[in-house]
Amino acid sequence: MTTASNFVKIEEVRKEVDALNSKASTADGFMDGITRLLHDKMLKYNWVGFYMLEPGTKPPVLVLGHFQGAMTPHTRILLNEGICGAAASSGKTVVVDDVNSDPRYLACSIETKSEIVVPVFVRGVVAGELDIDSHFHAAFGVEDRSLVEHCARLVGKRLESA
Ligand code: SME
Repeated sequence: MTTASNFVKIEEVRKEVDALNSKASTADGFMDGITRLLHDKMLKYNWVGFYMLEPGTKPPVLVLGHFQGAMTPHTRILLNEGICGAAASSGKTVVVDDVNSDPRYLACSIETKSEIVVPVFVRGVVAGELDIDSHFHAAFGVEDRSLVEHCARLVGKRLESA
């Protein structure tokens, strides 16, 4: 359900992401800052992290980058594995309202109930993704998706000029 207060909160955080983009001197610092900002400000975003494709590795593998939340056993994920692999291989945002009913799901924490994974594109090609887990069922609505896609788009642009 979308509430007015949730919408206001998301708009505030979107502005903070834009401010961080202006302030961060490197793409790496921006990515680190995004994980901290989303994790601190969005109370249902209980694990926030980037997975980036390792350059030149065959078969391609997603490698854990900056993250906030508990350490995950999944530090390297192949493209045919998990919700992360599904988002990277399809180039599409994946939202899962109930991870326990999705056979693709790779468990990171027993508390996780829902997940969103948004690909990061660099010059039109998937370079990685922004992954967020929530302890709440169906935590990622339309505005959440828009916020996370905004973050991923800005990161892609920063990486293009890095
Ligand atoms: N749940 C993910 C794995 C990464 S952890 O959530 C941090 C997946 O199914 O691909």
